Amino acid sequence: MAPIDPHSFTDSTHPLTTHVSLSLYLSFPTSTIHASALLTLSSPFSGTLSLDSRSLSLSSILDPQTLHPLPHSLSPTPDPIRGTEISVVLSGQSQILLIYSTSPAASALQWLSPPQTFSKTHPYVYTQCQAIHARSIFPCQDTPARRIRYDVVMNIPASLSAVMSARHVRRRLPLPEEATHLDSSLCWCAEDRVVEEFVMEQPIPPYLFAFAVGELGFREVGPRTRVYAESADVEVLDAAEVEFAGTEEMIRQGEKLFGEYDWERFDLLVLPPSFPYGGMENPRMVFLTPTVIKGDASGGQVVAHELAHSWTGNLITNVNNEHFWLNEGFTTYAERRIVEVVQGADIATLNMGIGWRGLKDEMERFKDNLECTKLKNNQQGVDPDDVYSQVPYEKGFQFVLRIERQVGRTAFDEFLKKYIATFKFKSIDTDTFLDFLKANIPGIEKEINLELWTEGVGIPEDAYEPVSTIYTKIISLAEEFKQGKMPSEDEVAEWKGQEWELYLENLPKSCEPSQVIALDKRYRLAESKDYEVKVSFLQVAISSKCREYHGEVEKTLKTVGRMKYLRPLFNALAQSGGTEEKQLAKQVFAEARETYHPIAQGVVESILSKYI
Ligand code: BES
Ligand code: ZN
Repeated sequence: MAPIDPHSFTDSTHPLTTHVSLSLYLSFPTSTIHASALLTLSSPFSGTLSLDSRSLSLSSILDPQTLHPLPHSLSPTPDPIRGTEISVVLSGQSQILLIYSTSPAASALQWLSPPQTFSKTHPYVYTQCQAIHARSIFPCQDTPARRIRYDVVMNIPASLSAVMSARHVRRRLPLPEEATHLDSSLCWCAEDRVVEEFVMEQPIPPYLFAFAVGELGFREVGPRTRVYAESADVEVLDAAEVEFAGTEEMIRQGEKLFGEYDWERFDLLVLPPSFPYGGMENPRMVFLTPTVIKGDASGGQVVAHELAHSWTGNLITNVNNEHFWLNEGFTTYAERRIVEVVQGADIATLNMGIGWRGLKDEMERFKDNLECTKLKNNQQGVDPDDVYSQVPYEKGFQFVLRIERQVGRTAFDEFLKKYIATFKFKSIDTDTFLDFLKANIPGIEKEINLELWTEGVGIPEDAYEPVSTIYTKIISLAEEFKQGKMPSEDEVAEWKGQEWELYLENLPKSCEPSQVIALDKRYRLAESKDYEVKVSFLQVAISSKCREYHGEVEKTLKTVGRMKYLRPLFNALAQSGGTEEKQLAKQVFAEARETYHPIAQGVVESILSKYI
């Protein structure tokens, strides 16, 4: 027994799953999926095979050839992080058929009742499998060290439609024989049901499995891009069409920089506000929070990031979460290269500056947990959702930039293309990257302390604080706030969201309340439509004990479920030391809990249990 991933029961001596065929019957009234999964292994196997699962109700495991049951057992108590191990005894089979249903509390699924949707008339469900939640939808070797191709037959209400991180094959009427192996009480081919079929031909790590089902509509925004959202939400569809009009240009720039786009289509899905992330790089169908639509095309940054994953992350994948920086550090670098071309160097530098501030804040957050400040870090017994931070993104970005600065852009671009071409559709670890780096840039280890960068704590001294006129100006204006000086109308005349965000994040954590209120009176920050600005401001307001903003804080926490906003606001409330703040945190969470994605619920719970 040799685990290959601290977050999975997958054993290195077992054959890998190469293909999964799923038959899914979505029951909205019970928030359950009745399912079968046919797993195909790379070779026949005799022995006990380990699979990951979480909160699944398993009804049988069969040999698909004979339909005889296969002996199996489940680990008696679920591991709090990895879930339940399924051990199946095989004697020479290369396929396994599992019949099961998901739990209404499946960590990857958010089920929205009609009142929780925009239309208020139709239900909605969507997945979020990264980091380790795919196992709550289907039993699998849920590790990015393994890649699978998949096909799906999905039975859904006829009033809804489905999208997936896969190619849509067709929508058709259900066939009676399709459900015989699932729960016999299901009306598989009831009149008001349809089947949507999908195939994913490119092998992907399980965390990139994704679907959403709802009353969906779309707009064409480019030759290989549609943007989807709830069809009733015409406002979002209209705005998204404008916000993401530049997507094709980004894909072309990405191809120039990193090589051919290998996934055929690049569609976007704008999710309901409870979506816990800014974006998720599900291949062929990127998921986005509606908060990225700000009306000034700045949402393009998140699209650039998720697009960049098409090369770094989705083509070259970290072998497990201990090497997550390989995914996010490279992607942050690639994102900024795309942004630099399409939005200009100034914007790219501002983003770098926001990232630099974020990285410094993380060093403070992890001052008693230095392991989390390392690029490569030990995650034995650690839940990846609990240690999610800017470190893999921004320290990873800094490391990649450090190499670029050492060798120069031209040489680095060539290296990057070769790196991607060499490892595409593979999963690698930090050492594999470093070996490749040393082999292709001889002597690099004499110029850069590679070990310090990848294994050391904190921010190495040769990291690079960005410089640009506007960046430096904003930092000095933030400094002046401490002396009681507010930026003038002239100074902020050209500022958009990113400038404000950088400014607010560089203010002292706690300020003189009257000054905070005066700043907001003048620039209306608490009411900003840009959530980055609004939340950065509210964070300062909470820490400065400006209690008149508690109403706005409550409203924000009840409107969006993006963890980038929940985390700092709940943290600020919980850590402020004030009873009123703590009370507000508890009360809002009690009331808003049900509207959050299960992953976000867990994250807020752990913040509150730590401080309250
Ligand atoms: N893959 C991540 C989101 C993620 C990370 C989900 C870890 C689950 C576990 C995605 O690419 C991402 O980084 N999103 C960012 C957006 C961004 C522009 C940095 C986010 O959600 O804020
Ligand atoms: Zn990312």
